[in-house]
Amino acid sequence: MSMKILILPGDYIGPEILAEAVKVLDAFKAQGEPLEWRFAHLGGAAVDAEGHPYPPSTKQAAHAADAILLGSVGGPKYDALPRELRPERGLLAVRKDLNLFANLRPARVFDELADSSSLKKEVIAGLDILILRELTGDIYFGQPRGRRVNAEGHDEGFDTMHYSRPEVARIARVAFEAARKRNRRLCSVDKENVLETSRFWREVMVEVSAEYPDVELSHMYVDNAAMQLLKRPKQFDVIVTGNIFGDILSDEAAMLAGSIGMLPSASLDANNKGMYEPIHGSAPDIAGQDKANPLATILSVAMMFKYSFDRADLSDRIEAAVRKVLQQGHRTGDIAMQGEKIIGTREMGDAVVKALG
Ligand code: IPM
Ligand code: MG
Repeated sequence: MSMKILILPGDYIGPEILAEAVKVLDAFKAQGEPLEWRFAHLGGAAVDAEGHPYPPSTKQAAHAADAILLGSVGGPKYDALPRELRPERGLLAVRKDLNLFANLRPARVFDELADSSSLKKEVIAGLDILILRELTGDIYFGQPRGRRVNAEGHDEGFDTMHYSRPEVARIARVAFEAARKRNRRLCSVDKENVLETSRFWREVMVEVSAEYPDVELSHMYVDNAAMQLLKRPKQFDVIVTGNIFGDILSDEAAMLAGSIGMLPSASLDANNKGMYEPIHGSAPDIAGQDKANPLATILSVAMMFKYSFDRADLSDRIEAAVRKVLQQGHRTGDIAMQGEKIIGTREMGDAVVKALG
């Protein structure tokens, strides 16, 4: 069975880091793996080429693919565009269009990088947590939203936060299943003391937990979770939370791992079709300079093999190769300690391919 991949390089450093991921695909293909891939536009690149951040040609290709690899979208060139044409809209549109409701954002600290976090080594050494972010609901997509004149006659902007029972129940099940494969501890993060949406979210979490008596469910308010992630991050195993809280907490968790340039992510539908992308953005400040760290993207390829293609063997080989290049001392600027030799995006990609064997 061939593995059909759609590659969406996106904007700024997107094409640079994706080029290194393609080197990994090339290496596996040369070894006889039935991999096929094609490219399409998303985000600003798609606006430039086709006038829309998620054009019909990309939509069609996305539906036809088994899995999608995405670089990053957005940047200053596109900031002045009307809201519907902003690159971020393209990203949100694919997530929604393909029903990619389960966003897995693991935060793991490689031993070799335990010194490059801004937190003390003993706080983060050995850290391995998984943040599960609901990705197609919440205030990100809630209607109504927009501008209006309020009762006092003032202009205002407004959005709507809501979650339905099926939406919460399905992310809950993904989270409980994930916890089952790890240390069987699930922490649901909400703002139940203030928000109706969160009260409901918590109720459904508790209901679903009855199906998973072997997993320990706990609850935490999001403000406390933000604090605990810095204070004692190793207390967590799996965190499950809504779209907006997950957006914020996963950036915070990324910094625990030393650099946001190290963390991959997967966004899955109910059948494990997925889109895989680094957690970081398009880094306009270093674009085109061969400076970006391609490891988060390469680790996203590893997640793709594991989750969409059930090929843990290939996934393990990529992760082992990344560990090896770190052990060998290869560092891009974002993960280098003072005085360490810094290599470029392409050299890092080549080192990983070499380490793959
Ligand atoms: C992310 C990003 C996106 C989000 C933006 C680019 C729309 O921050 O993937 O975390 O908010 O979901
Ligand atoms: Mg984000």
